[in-house]
Amino acid sequence: MKPDFKFCYFNVLSSTNDKAKEFAKEGKSNIVIVAGRQEKGRGRFGREWSSSFGGLYMTILLHAEDIDKSRYLTFIATVSVAKVICSIAGLDAKVKWPNDVLINHKKACGILTETISGNKNYALVGIGLNVNQKKFPKSVMRNSTSLNMESNKNYGIKKISKLIIMEFNNLYPYYNKRNYGKIIEIWREYSHTLGKTVKAKTLTGTYTGKAVDVDEECNLILRLNDGTMKKIVEGDIFIV
Ligand code: BTN
Repeated sequence: MKPDFKFCYFNVLSSTNDKAKEFAKEGKSNIVIVAGRQEKGRGRFGREWSSSFGGLYMTILLHAEDIDKSRYLTFIATVSVAKVICSIAGLDAKVKWPNDVLINHKKACGILTETISGNKNYALVGIGLNVNQKKFPKSVMRNSTSLNMESNKNYGIKKISKLIIMEFNNLYPYYNKRNYGKIIEIWREYSHTLGKTVKAKTLTGTYTGKAVDVDEECNLILRLNDGTMKKIVEGDIFIV
């Protein structure tokens, strides 16, 4: 079953993920929250997400029975964004493990998936896509890009949000039917990471090796220089 999403647009929010949490507390789901800008946009590991006008900031609020499986929603979201970038701008977008979308090796999109457990469980899939921005804060400028910077064109934010949901809806049945293998298979097709030598910074250490695969639980598998395999569950990766 594909969810029938209701869109809620706001000019300014502190964070679309926070607004989604408010809706979830009221028992609402199947809502897409979109903001023109965010005052406290955040990324993984509590990092700031630059959220000025011109970007797309949206959160998909879903009722999710099994919150342990929310990583597949992140994978579905990254692939959906990559597909939309390819179709609308003709750019070659790729997914970078675990939650980014790159254009020409630079970050154009990050996904922050959060969960709420209780009587009912919820997943909040927060998508930040750089669309019409031409500059970013110094700290991220070097490694960031936008659709505008790559194609010299502006794009309609509402239109992109609708297209992303269309793609998300096409992939969502695999999640709903627990066909996780299919999600991994599609993610591999769009992967920027696999086959590259990467440095993975994790809580337990830094590992360098060739990214050979993602396993059935979305973990990244590295072949280290000594030939051993290392499973990366969480962290940041850098192409070396
Ligand atoms: C990351 O790359 O670390 C993830 C960035 C996620 C940013 C999006 S923008 C919409 C939603 N609201 C937030 O505050 N964060 C996510």
